[in-house]
Amino acid sequence: MKCAMVTQKRTIETRDINEPAFGTGKVVVEVKKAGICGSDIHYWDAGEPNGLVMGHELCGTVIDTGSRADLKIGDRVTALPISPCGKCPACKSGNPQYCPETWNDAVGLSLTSPGAYALKTSLRPDLTIKVPDEMTDDEVAMVEPTSVSFHAVRLSGIKPGDNVLVIGAGIIGDICAMIAKKAGASFVAVSEVNEKRGEKAVTLGCADKFYNAKSETFMQEALENCPFGYDIVFDCCGNTPAVSSAVMLAKPNGTIVLVGVSLDSISFPSAVTVTREQKLYGAIGYTFDEFAECINLINKKKFNVSKFVDDIVPIEGVQKAFERLTSGEDDAIKILIDPTK
Ligand SMILES: NC(=O)c1ccc[n+]([C@@H]2O[C@H](COP(=O)([O-])OP(=O)(O)OC[C@H]3O[C@@H](n4cnc5c(N)ncnc54)[C@H](O)[C@@H]3O)[C@@H](O)[C@H]2O)c1
Ligand SMILES: [Zn+2]
Ligand SMILES: [Zn+2]
Repeated sequence: MKCAMVTQKRTIETRDINEPAFGTGKVVVEVKKAGICGSDIHYWDAGEPNGLVMGHELCGTVIDTGSRADLKIGDRVTALPISPCGKCPACKSGNPQYCPETWNDAVGLSLTSPGAYALKTSLRPDLTIKVPDEMTDDEVAMVEPTSVSFHAVRLSGIKPGDNVLVIGAGIIGDICAMIAKKAGASFVAVSEVNEKRGEKAVTLGCADKFYNAKSETFMQEALENCPFGYDIVFDCCGNTPAVSSAVMLAKPNGTIVLVGVSLDSISFPSAVTVTREQKLYGAIGYTFDEFAECINLINKKKFNVSKFVDDIVPIEGVQKAFERLTSGEDDAIKILIDPTK
């Protein structure tokens, strides 16, 4: 079957791979929509692992119910792409997101489980969730990134009236900003190096203000509304300038949540964190309950996530979509793939 495969640095090509096996106990789906994630961009950038078929944000139609007796052929589902062991202390505490095994066999994030940038993919039966009929395919494909931001905002311990800065207005940053506002933040700002994305975060109603991180006076400007620093800063980029600005702009005893992933080490002025007694959190993925809650919130239209979808491309259009998302000059935030196109 047709898929889009990472073949070398900044290159993804249309290739043929074997269809997922039937009768293994896994749920096999025909992919209706798959989202391109910022994490996919890291793999595409590196060109590794070679042969990776990405796609961990998905909406599919069941064609093999696997070990799920409650599912029917034709049901629309999505799934948590992770692969927790179910036995370790993290899994037992309801936190599969930091199970040491959770990325080993993750759908679309490992060579062993090809993802949804393909006509079909297979999913763990225990992590597959049937979605309400009222939800659109696009909304279903947006559940995964929404859950990432939902988890990060929940970890931050946000309170009504807090001032919030989100560094990086990609999809993860925009949804963090949107949820922070809904949680009662009195002022939500975003910083961006891509002006179009920064301005779009305001236009889409996610943020009150955009600060250009490339401006020489960025730090002063970002403190104009919050002279003592922000209560909460989310880093949704994962690079040294971004994390450094997160630390510099968070107030004494403020909270910094690191959501952005970097394959390289990051350095930041740790003396600022020490002397300001800042709380520094890492945030990874989501729990099963948070994922299910996001399905419910999107279905109830409490979270409007369709507004972030800029384009829907066929498998042959994936390379161009990655180029568009990384141009630094385009305002596109989320591009979905429709393998049936
Ligand atoms: N922790 C998790 O569970 C999790 C899950 C999904 C994605 N991620 C990571 O979160 C990050 C964001 O994901 P995304 O899909 O929104 O990615 P994205 O690449 O679309 O967005 C990142 C944005 O940050 C901006 N940026 C880069 N450097 C900046 C700086 N110094 N200051 C301000 N803005 C800057 C970029 O212009 C870009 O718009 C990525 O690193 C991704 O790997 C983490
Ligand atoms: Zn993702
Ligand atoms: Zn485990």
